[in-house]
Amino acid sequence: MSTPPIFDADFLERLEDLFIWRRDVRHFKTDAIDEELLEKLLKVTCLHSPSVGNSQPWRYVKITDPVRRDKVKKDFEAQNQQALENYHGDKARLYASLKLAGLTDAPVHLAVFADIETERGAGLGQATMPETLKYSVANSIYTFWLAARAYGVGVGWVSIIDPPSVTKILDVPENWELIGYLCVGYPKEENETPELLRVGWQDQGAFDTFIFER
Ligand SMILES: Cc1cc2nc3c(=O)[nH]c(=O)nc-3n(C[C@H](O)[C@H](O)[C@H](O)COP(=O)(O)O)c2cc1C
Repeated sequence: MSTPPIFDADFLERLEDLFIWRRDVRHFKTDAIDEELLEKLLKVTCLHSPSVGNSQPWRYVKITDPVRRDKVKKDFEAQNQQALENYHGDKARLYASLKLAGLTDAPVHLAVFADIETERGAGLGQATMPETLKYSVANSIYTFWLAARAYGVGVGWVSIIDPPSVTKILDVPENWELIGYLCVGYPKEENETPELLRVGWQDQGAFDTFIFER
């Protein structure tokens, strides 16, 4: 048996700060991220994230090829233009003004896939809810997000992209499903309030409207 560390009051307060200050970042400095730090973040993510049946289905792809990065950016621009067509009037004007990805400036692009045919974990826990394999990958992204923020590194999750196109651009196996595309880098500015609230896209939902009892 090993002894867990003591998470004292000071640590708990700092931990809450981490949750509060983890932001989705779209405005990045172009400064590089130290390779060793990135490796450390990916290691902690891949070793310590929870997954259904311990299947570890996450596959993190670092995109260094400028041609592929540019193709993903163009795909985002096309999908974002299409998404704009779902809005009208003031909402459309506001949508058009939003910055919804930091693909140009972020020094690191990570595409995160779920290997939906992984044999790790032997299918344990997936019989009733096969989608838990993909939830596991989303969990791992949150691990990465928090760990990165703890080191002052910002993460922006981009979902306004066409998964089959990105899978093709990155030339990954067909049984890998895209879960998220992450822009990673140092934030241009820090903020404790989500950007969509700050620009007036929405207001903050009241905490007690999300909790139910039966
Ligand atoms: C699954 C997922 C997909 C997201 N996709 C995008 C996206 O395509 N573009 C974007 O600007 N933000 C995206 N976000 C970030 C959310 O907009 C952001 O988390 C939310 O507005 C709350 O802000 P916060 O993360 O700063 O707390 C995504 C977040 C999640 C969890």
